[in-house]
Amino acid sequence: MRTSIIPMLALAAAVSAAPGPSRVSEIVGRASTCTFTSAASASASKKSCSTIVLDNIEVPAGETLDLSSLQDGTKVIFRGETTFGYEEWKGPLIRFSGSNIEITGEEGHVINGGGASWWDGKGTNGGKDKPKFFYAHSMTDSSITGLNVKNTPVQAFSVQADNLVLDSITIDNSDGDDNGGHNTDAFDVGESTYITISNANVKNQDDCLAVNSGENIVFTGGYCSGGHGLSIGSVGGRDDNTVKNVTISDSTVTNSANGVRIKTVYEATGEVSDVTFSNIELSNISDYGIVIEQDYENGSPTGTPTTGVPITGLTVEGITGSVESDATNVYILCGSGSCSDWTWSGIDLTGGKTSSKCSNVPSGVSC
Ligand SMILES: *[C@@H]1O[C@H](CO)[C@@H](O)[C@H](O)[C@H]1NC(C)=O
Ligand SMILES: *[C@@H]1O[C@H](CO)[C@@H](O)[C@H](O)[C@H]1NC(C)=O
Repeated sequence: MRTSIIPMLALAAAVSAAPGPSRVSEIVGRASTCTFTSAASASASKKSCSTIVLDNIEVPAGETLDLSSLQDGTKVIFRGETTFGYEEWKGPLIRFSGSNIEITGEEGHVINGGGASWWDGKGTNGGKDKPKFFYAHSMTDSSITGLNVKNTPVQAFSVQADNLVLDSITIDNSDGDDNGGHNTDAFDVGESTYITISNANVKNQDDCLAVNSGENIVFTGGYCSGGHGLSIGSVGGRDDNTVKNVTISDSTVTNSANGVRIKTVYEATGEVSDVTFSNIELSNISDYGIVIEQDYENGSPTGTPTTGVPITGLTVEGITGSVESDATNVYILCGSGSCSDWTWSGIDLTGGKTSSKCSNVPSGVSC
């Protein structure tokens, strides 16, 4: 395995020759750019590097590309193809933590989860044990920009962070459409504050975004195809059951089960407040254009809503486009009094059925 630690004197030349975010003037204290070609050397030496290049790393089966506990201010650059050996296990395949971390990828890089080896149509509901892909846990004041991800075994990004920007990330799991890809959520956000996910490009087979808990979260400029749409929830029954101040805007959802969705858990407690869905274009939606329901249990709707996770201060505006003819344009199933203070405007969805099962719909809202 080739591992070069380029000393300070050589750094100016190395940096000027390579594209990327590094500037010599920013490198203070730890005097090196480290180029790693193995996961083991990256994990072992990560703390002595101010910039880490992950160069065509083949991560061994059953191991994590472990970039947790990075030094404050570390920059990390993916180069070439990152691959992972096959083993049935829970993962994650990649883990980052630290403060002021900047993660990017060079032009032409790909992080290839090799999902086809695990895909069996069962996702996390059975069959093979499948590794989670990327944990962005305990990251603060950090950014992940421009990563190009392909074929995750199951869920892609698990975000538990504070003040993290995820910009221009591509996740292409479309190989899994006819090949057993399942539960390949793109971004699962929980126990987080100040998260911005912008300009994501997602092709997958489950939620494009799922916010289970957290505050001050933005998803904007996204393209979501093949999955279950843009979701809040399910909320309830976890350690943290508060979703507050979430804005999902200026995005496209196509070839998906749902457009926009909120689901809360049957007989659980918690709250969903100050959520905005704005300017979202839908096409080829198979189940629901807009769906808000307070009846989830073990991942399925019960049909009976409960009131323990109220949904208040919801704004839904500018949701347009078409759904399939056997889909439902809008479905709202609230408990008595547990949905209130909603603003509803510019909803123009065509092609689907009008629901006859809406209940406790707040005033001013049409279902
Ligand atoms: C809501 O979240 C946004 C985005 O993080 C933030 O800028 C804004 O200050 C938050 N609003 C409140 C009332 O906390
Ligand atoms: C519509 O979306 C489904 C997935 O929900 C997909 O299988 C189908 O090919 C899409 N149809 C078109 C015309 O793109």
